[in-house]
Amino acid sequence: MIEMTKHQRLPGLRKDEGYTVHPFDEAYGVRTSGLIAGRHLRAGHKHDRDITAYFGVAPSVFRKLLAKWRRGGSRAPMEKYCFVDVGAGMGRAMLLAGEMGFREVVGVELNPVLARIARKNLLRWSVDGRLLARQRMKLIEGDATEIKLPAGPLVLFLFNPFEARVMKRFLRALEEQRVGNSAPVELLYVNREQEAVLEGRKRWVRFYLGEVARTKTDAIADHRIMAAQPDGEYTSGNFEECSGWRLVPAK
Ligand SMILES: C[S@@+](CC[C@H](N)C(=O)[O-])C[C@H]1O[C@@H](n2cnc3c(N)ncnc32)[C@H](O)[C@@H]1O
Repeated sequence: MIEMTKHQRLPGLRKDEGYTVHPFDEAYGVRTSGLIAGRHLRAGHKHDRDITAYFGVAPSVFRKLLAKWRRGGSRAPMEKYCFVDVGAGMGRAMLLAGEMGFREVVGVELNPVLARIARKNLLRWSVDGRLLARQRMKLIEGDATEIKLPAGPLVLFLFNPFEARVMKRFLRALEEQRVGNSAPVELLYVNREQEAVLEGRKRWVRFYLGEVARTKTDAIADHRIMAAQPDGEYTSGNFEECSGWRLVPAK
Protein backbone atom coordinates (compact mmCIF):
# COMPACT_ATOMS: atom_id res chain seq x y z
CA MET A 1 0.00 0.00 0.00
CA ILE A 2 1.32 3.46 -0.93
CA GLU A 3 1.23 5.86 2.01
CA MET A 4 -0.41 9.19 1.29
CA THR A 5 1.40 12.26 2.62
CA LYS A 6 -0.30 15.38 3.93
CA HIS A 7 0.80 17.34 0.86
CA GLN A 8 -0.20 14.88 -1.82
CA ARG A 9 -2.76 16.12 -4.36
CA LEU A 10 -6.14 14.40 -4.30
CA PRO A 11 -7.91 13.49 -7.55
CA GLY A 12 -11.19 15.36 -8.16
CA LEU A 13 -9.94 18.81 -7.24
CA ARG A 14 -9.01 20.05 -10.73
CA LYS A 15 -11.40 21.59 -13.27
CA ASP A 16 -10.71 18.83 -15.81
CA GLU A 17 -11.67 16.33 -13.10
CA GLY A 18 -15.08 17.96 -12.65
CA TYR A 19 -14.16 20.44 -9.91
CA THR A 20 -16.50 23.38 -9.49
CA VAL A 21 -16.58 25.83 -6.58
CA HIS A 22 -19.60 25.77 -4.23
CA PRO A 23 -21.12 29.21 -3.37
CA PHE A 24 -20.32 28.52 0.32
CA ASP A 25 -16.59 28.73 -0.48
CA GLU A 26 -17.05 31.87 -2.55
CA ALA A 27 -18.97 33.53 0.28
CA TYR A 28 -16.51 32.65 3.05
CA GLY A 29 -13.14 32.36 1.30
CA VAL A 30 -12.64 28.72 2.34
CA ARG A 31 -11.98 25.52 0.42
CA THR A 32 -14.58 22.80 0.96
CA SER A 33 -15.82 22.09 -2.60
CA GLY A 34 -15.36 18.98 -4.70
CA LEU A 35 -16.23 15.33 -4.84
CA ILE A 36 -13.52 12.74 -4.19
CA ALA A 37 -14.35 9.07 -4.63
CA GLY A 38 -13.64 6.81 -1.65
CA ARG A 39 -11.13 4.79 -3.65
CA HIS A 40 -8.95 7.94 -3.98
CA LEU A 41 -8.83 8.48 -0.21
CA ARG A 42 -6.70 5.48 0.73
CA ALA A 43 -3.80 6.47 2.96
CA GLY A 44 -2.80 3.25 4.70
CA HIS A 45 -5.45 2.70 7.43
CA LYS A 46 -7.42 -0.58 7.67
CA HIS A 47 -10.70 1.41 7.44
CA ASP A 48 -9.77 3.24 4.21
CA ARG A 49 -11.68 0.79 2.08
CA ASP A 50 -14.90 1.61 3.96
CA ILE A 51 -14.76 5.34 3.15
CA THR A 52 -17.73 6.35 0.98
CA ALA A 53 -16.39 9.61 -0.55
CA TYR A 54 -15.54 13.19 0.28
CA PHE A 55 -18.38 15.64 -0.40
CA GLY A 56 -19.27 18.64 1.79
CA VAL A 57 -22.79 18.73 3.21
CA ALA A 58 -25.23 21.19 1.60
CA PRO A 59 -25.31 24.14 4.05
CA SER A 60 -29.11 24.38 3.78
CA VAL A 61 -29.57 20.70 4.69
CA PHE A 62 -27.18 21.06 7.63
CA ARG A 63 -28.94 24.14 9.03
CA LYS A 64 -32.44 22.66 8.62
CA LEU A 65 -31.48 19.34 10.23
CA LEU A 66 -29.84 21.09 13.19
CA ALA A 67 -32.98 23.22 13.61
CA LYS A 68 -35.10 20.03 13.70
CA TRP A 69 -32.77 18.59 16.34
CA ARG A 70 -33.07 21.76 18.44
CA ARG A 71 -36.87 21.63 18.24
CA GLY A 72 -37.42 17.92 18.84
CA GLY A 73 -34.24 16.05 19.70
CA SER A 74 -31.89 17.96 21.96
CA ARG A 75 -32.00 17.36 25.70
CA ALA A 76 -29.78 20.15 27.04
CA PRO A 77 -29.06 23.81 26.21
CA MET A 78 -26.98 24.28 23.06
CA GLU A 79 -24.02 25.75 24.94
CA LYS A 80 -23.64 22.52 26.94
CA TYR A 81 -23.19 20.36 23.84
CA CYS A 82 -20.02 19.34 22.07
CA PHE A 83 -20.68 18.98 18.33
CA VAL A 84 -18.66 16.19 16.70
CA ASP A 85 -18.39 15.81 12.93
CA VAL A 86 -17.59 12.14 12.37
CA GLY A 87 -15.73 12.17 9.06
CA ALA A 88 -15.08 15.91 8.90
CA GLY A 89 -13.55 16.06 5.41
CA MET A 90 -12.50 19.63 4.62
CA GLY A 91 -14.48 20.90 7.62
CA ARG A 92 -17.60 22.42 6.02
CA ALA A 93 -20.00 21.04 8.67
CA MET A 94 -17.60 22.13 11.43
CA LEU A 95 -17.57 25.69 10.08
CA LEU A 96 -21.36 25.72 9.92
CA ALA A 97 -21.56 24.35 13.48
CA GLY A 98 -19.18 27.13 14.52
CA GLU A 99 -21.99 29.63 13.85
CA MET A 100 -24.33 27.95 16.30
CA GLY A 101 -23.05 28.44 19.84
CA PHE A 102 -21.91 24.93 20.82
CA ARG A 103 -19.54 24.58 23.77
CA GLU A 104 -17.01 22.94 21.48
CA VAL A 105 -16.82 21.81 17.85
CA VAL A 106 -14.71 18.73 17.13
CA GLY A 107 -14.07 16.98 13.82
CA VAL A 108 -12.37 13.66 13.16
CA GLU A 109 -10.98 12.92 9.72
CA LEU A 110 -9.10 9.83 8.58
CA ASN A 111 -7.52 11.16 5.40
CA PRO A 112 -4.39 13.29 6.09
CA VAL A 113 -4.77 15.56 3.04
CA LEU A 114 -8.39 16.38 3.88
CA ALA A 115 -7.44 16.93 7.54
CA ARG A 116 -4.77 19.44 6.49
CA ILE A 117 -7.25 21.34 4.30
CA ALA A 118 -9.80 21.34 7.17
CA ARG A 119 -7.23 22.81 9.57
CA LYS A 120 -6.50 25.63 7.12
CA ASN A 121 -10.22 26.34 6.81
CA LEU A 122 -10.63 26.48 10.60
CA LEU A 123 -7.72 28.88 10.84
CA ARG A 124 -9.24 31.11 8.18
CA TRP A 125 -12.57 31.03 10.03
CA SER A 126 -11.00 32.16 13.31
CA VAL A 127 -8.75 34.79 11.66
CA ASP A 128 -11.88 36.21 10.00
CA GLY A 129 -13.48 36.47 13.47
CA ARG A 130 -16.38 34.10 12.79
CA LEU A 131 -15.73 31.89 15.78
CA LEU A 132 -18.12 32.76 18.62
CA ALA A 133 -16.48 33.99 21.82
CA ARG A 134 -15.19 31.19 24.10
CA GLN A 135 -15.95 28.50 21.53
CA ARG A 136 -13.25 25.98 20.70
CA MET A 137 -12.77 24.15 17.40
CA LYS A 138 -10.53 21.13 17.02
CA LEU A 139 -9.74 18.79 14.14
CA ILE A 140 -8.45 15.33 15.07
CA GLU A 141 -6.67 13.43 12.31
CA GLY A 142 -7.48 9.76 12.83
CA ASP A 143 -10.04 7.00 12.74
CA ALA A 144 -13.50 7.66 14.16
CA THR A 145 -13.62 4.26 15.90
CA GLU A 146 -10.47 5.08 17.90
CA ILE A 147 -11.10 8.57 19.28
CA LYS A 148 -12.00 9.36 22.88
CA LEU A 149 -15.08 11.56 22.87
CA PRO A 150 -15.77 14.30 25.46
CA ALA A 151 -17.85 13.16 28.46
CA GLY A 152 -20.64 15.81 28.44
CA PRO A 153 -23.66 16.19 26.12
CA LEU A 154 -22.76 15.21 22.55
CA VAL A 155 -24.33 15.72 19.18
CA LEU A 156 -22.69 13.58 16.52
CA PHE A 157 -23.01 14.53 12.87
CA LEU A 158 -22.52 11.87 10.18
CA PHE A 159 -22.79 12.68 6.48
CA ASN A 160 -22.65 9.07 5.30
CA PRO A 161 -18.92 8.75 6.05
CA PHE A 162 -18.43 4.98 6.00
CA GLU A 163 -19.85 1.55 5.20
CA ALA A 164 -21.66 -0.80 7.60
CA ARG A 165 -18.57 -2.53 9.04
CA VAL A 166 -17.07 0.73 10.35
CA MET A 167 -20.48 2.07 11.35
CA LYS A 168 -20.91 -0.96 13.65
CA ARG A 169 -17.43 -0.51 15.12
CA PHE A 170 -17.97 3.21 15.64
CA LEU A 171 -21.29 2.71 17.46
CA ARG A 172 -19.90 -0.10 19.60
CA ALA A 173 -16.91 2.02 20.68
CA LEU A 174 -19.18 4.98 21.47
CA GLU A 175 -21.60 2.84 23.50
CA GLU A 176 -18.71 1.43 25.55
CA GLN A 177 -17.37 4.91 26.27
CA ARG A 178 -20.79 5.97 27.55
CA VAL A 179 -21.41 3.17 30.06
CA GLY A 180 -22.20 4.81 33.43
CA ASN A 181 -22.57 8.24 31.80
CA SER A 182 -26.12 9.57 31.42
CA ALA A 183 -25.25 12.82 29.60
CA PRO A 184 -27.33 13.14 26.40
CA VAL A 185 -25.94 11.70 23.15
CA GLU A 186 -27.74 12.36 19.88
CA LEU A 187 -26.71 11.35 16.38
CA LEU A 188 -27.76 13.18 13.21
CA TYR A 189 -27.38 11.09 10.08
CA VAL A 190 -27.48 12.60 6.56
CA ASN A 191 -27.78 10.28 3.52
CA ARG A 192 -28.51 7.48 5.97
CA GLU A 193 -27.30 4.51 3.93
CA GLN A 194 -26.39 2.45 6.99
CA GLU A 195 -29.61 3.15 8.89
CA ALA A 196 -30.13 -0.61 9.36
CA VAL A 197 -27.04 -0.73 11.56
CA LEU A 198 -28.62 1.75 13.99
CA GLU A 199 -31.96 -0.06 13.78
CA GLY A 200 -30.24 -3.28 14.80
CA ARG A 201 -28.70 -1.84 17.98
CA LYS A 202 -30.68 -2.04 21.22
CA ARG A 203 -29.56 1.22 22.81
CA TRP A 204 -30.52 3.61 20.00
CA VAL A 205 -33.97 5.21 19.64
CA ARG A 206 -34.91 7.19 16.55
CA PHE A 207 -36.48 10.61 17.18
CA TYR A 208 -36.53 11.86 13.58
CA LEU A 209 -36.85 10.43 10.08
CA GLY A 210 -37.43 12.51 6.96
CA GLU A 211 -36.28 14.20 3.79
CA VAL A 212 -34.48 17.50 4.19
CA ALA A 213 -34.58 19.68 1.07
CA ARG A 214 -31.66 21.61 -0.35
CA THR A 215 -32.25 25.28 -1.18
CA LYS A 216 -32.24 26.06 -4.89
CA THR A 217 -28.69 27.46 -4.63
CA ASP A 218 -27.36 24.29 -2.99
CA ALA A 219 -29.28 22.02 -5.36
CA ILE A 220 -27.83 23.79 -8.41
CA ALA A 221 -24.29 23.71 -6.97
CA ASP A 222 -24.46 20.02 -6.02
CA HIS A 223 -26.05 18.98 -9.33
CA ARG A 224 -23.28 20.81 -11.17
CA ILE A 225 -20.60 18.94 -9.23
CA MET A 226 -22.34 15.58 -9.73
CA ALA A 227 -22.85 16.23 -13.44
CA ALA A 228 -19.15 16.96 -13.93
CA GLN A 229 -17.87 13.68 -12.42
CA PRO A 230 -15.75 11.87 -14.99
CA ASP A 231 -17.02 8.43 -13.90
CA GLY A 232 -20.58 9.44 -12.91
CA GLU A 233 -20.56 7.09 -9.93
CA TYR A 234 -22.31 9.32 -7.33
CA THR A 235 -25.76 10.96 -7.42
CA SER A 236 -27.53 13.67 -5.44
CA GLY A 237 -31.20 14.67 -5.41
CA ASN A 238 -32.98 17.82 -4.27
CA PHE A 239 -33.15 16.49 -0.72
CA GLU A 240 -31.23 14.26 1.67
CA GLU A 241 -32.72 11.30 3.53
CA CYS A 242 -31.95 12.10 7.17
CA SER A 243 -32.52 10.64 10.61
CA GLY A 244 -31.94 11.56 14.24
CA TRP A 245 -31.13 9.07 17.00
CA ARG A 246 -30.71 9.13 20.76
CA LEU A 247 -28.52 6.82 22.83
CA VAL A 248 -30.35 5.33 25.80
CA PRO A 249 -28.05 5.36 28.87
CA ALA A 250 -26.82 1.88 29.94
CA LYS A 251 -28.20 0.75 33.32
C1 LIG B 1 -19.23 12.67 2.83
S1 LIG B 1 -17.75 13.29 3.60
C2 LIG B 1 -18.48 14.42 4.77
C3 LIG B 1 -17.62 15.63 5.12
C4 LIG B 1 -18.15 16.56 6.19
N1 LIG B 1 -18.76 15.82 7.28
C5 LIG B 1 -19.16 17.54 5.64
O1 LIG B 1 -20.33 17.23 5.74
O2 LIG B 1 -18.79 18.58 5.12
C6 LIG B 1 -17.26 11.88 4.61
C7 LIG B 1 -15.87 11.99 5.22
O3 LIG B 1 -15.70 10.94 6.19
C8 LIG B 1 -14.33 10.57 6.21
N2 LIG B 1 -14.19 9.24 6.84
C9 LIG B 1 -14.56 8.04 6.33
N3 LIG B 1 -14.23 7.03 7.17
C10 LIG B 1 -13.68 7.62 8.28
C11 LIG B 1 -13.17 7.09 9.50
N4 LIG B 1 -13.16 5.77 9.77
N5 LIG B 1 -12.68 7.96 10.42
C12 LIG B 1 -12.68 9.30 10.17
N6 LIG B 1 -13.12 9.85 9.01
C13 LIG B 1 -13.64 9.02 8.07
C14 LIG B 1 -13.97 10.59 4.72
O4 LIG B 1 -12.58 10.65 4.51
C15 LIG B 1 -14.72 11.85 4.24
O5 LIG B 1 -13.91 12.98 4.31
